[in-house]
Amino acid sequence: MVRVIVRDVPPFKLLRLDDDEIRYFESLWLIPEGITYNAYLLPTSEGWVLFDTWKVGYEGEFMEALKGVVDPSKIKYLVIHHMEPDHSGTVRALLEANPGIEVLGHPMTKSMLESFYGIKPRFRAVRDGEELRVGEYTMKFIYAPWLHWPETIFTYVKEARALLTCDAFGAYSIPSSTFDDELGEEELERYRFWTRKYMATVIGHYLPFVGNAIKKIESLGLDIRMILPSHGLIWRRPAEIIKYYERWSAGETVSGVKKVVVVYGSMYGFVEAAVKEAIKVLEEEGVLHVTYRFVDNHRDEISDLMGDLINASGIILGTATYEAGIHPLMRFVVNLMIEKIPKNKSVLVITNYGWGGVAGKLLKKELEGAGYKIHSIIEFRAGQLEKNRGAIREAVKNFVRTL
Ligand code: FEO
Repeated sequence: MVRVIVRDVPPFKLLRLDDDEIRYFESLWLIPEGITYNAYLLPTSEGWVLFDTWKVGYEGEFMEALKGVVDPSKIKYLVIHHMEPDHSGTVRALLEANPGIEVLGHPMTKSMLESFYGIKPRFRAVRDGEELRVGEYTMKFIYAPWLHWPETIFTYVKEARALLTCDAFGAYSIPSSTFDDELGEEELERYRFWTRKYMATVIGHYLPFVGNAIKKIESLGLDIRMILPSHGLIWRRPAEIIKYYERWSAGETVSGVKKVVVVYGSMYGFVEAAVKEAIKVLEEEGVLHVTYRFVDNHRDEISDLMGDLINASGIILGTATYEAGIHPLMRFVVNLMIEKIPKNKSVLVITNYGWGGVAGKLLKKELEGAGYKIHSIIEFRAGQLEKNRGAIREAVKNFVRTL
């Protein structure tokens, strides 16, 4: 059952839909933790401004929540930060209730509205850096391309010292409260993981644009006291979430502690036995590590793996050669590493084969081609662990030292 939260976030009002019905975000990423869609209202002496809406399919819930706060006829502007339908999905219902609303957005937004929803509202394209005075507030629009589509913009409301960022600085999950400073450390730590998972899966392909946007905000010298994203928590400690986004998008931990992610697929236990030797060395060396395994009676979640890969220092991959290639689940992982994960990581490969080794060569070519550093590849015929145990141990010891 979805839940609606309406809360004062002075001078805004938050309209939040807690979606625990969704199972796969973008029909791809498993999120048992759920997600929220946040829209914000700003009452001004010249009328109300609405920033974004909710996901398509929740038009009824959105209009009911909105009408509980303000008569739609009092809304003067709708600012669309981003056209993905988890935020623009109830725009048509809103404009049916008040066709006089002027929609503000990136120039690309107009044609997307017409294409997605068959609507041609009153529309004003905003320029990067343009300011618009509404009653006692000044809205400054800032282009934030590829966060997470090319038409994405932020709005800085000067008098509120608030930055509205849509996808950026958001996260998966349904936080127990609205503001970062209302969560206990334990929940915040879980939230940090869901932030990394969200960044890697949703924004991963565009991570360099996170750093660009942060630099742009800093260069504008904005006095930001609050960040209001369209997923998850509102940040009253904006420096915190900016720091997380900055560090993780660069592929680093916030603490600076090195982390190794071990991920392997093993059909009959040969690869697993070899990788377990590597894990033993990580434990002996006291290295922070986390393991994801795909075996015949257990499969860890690739969506969660993404949240751990993004800020790893080193990655140990274990796979068998499979049909003259890489085991298909590991193939998917490697594709995601190439597409969405920062490449500032060293990779150690442990691979087995039955009659001919292919996976090692393929991984070296593809991962090096993508920009990863391949530390070493230990490839041997299934069943030959004893002859190779020493080589694995030495390689992992050396791998850890070079991180
Ligand atoms: Fe939350 Fe890119 O939409």
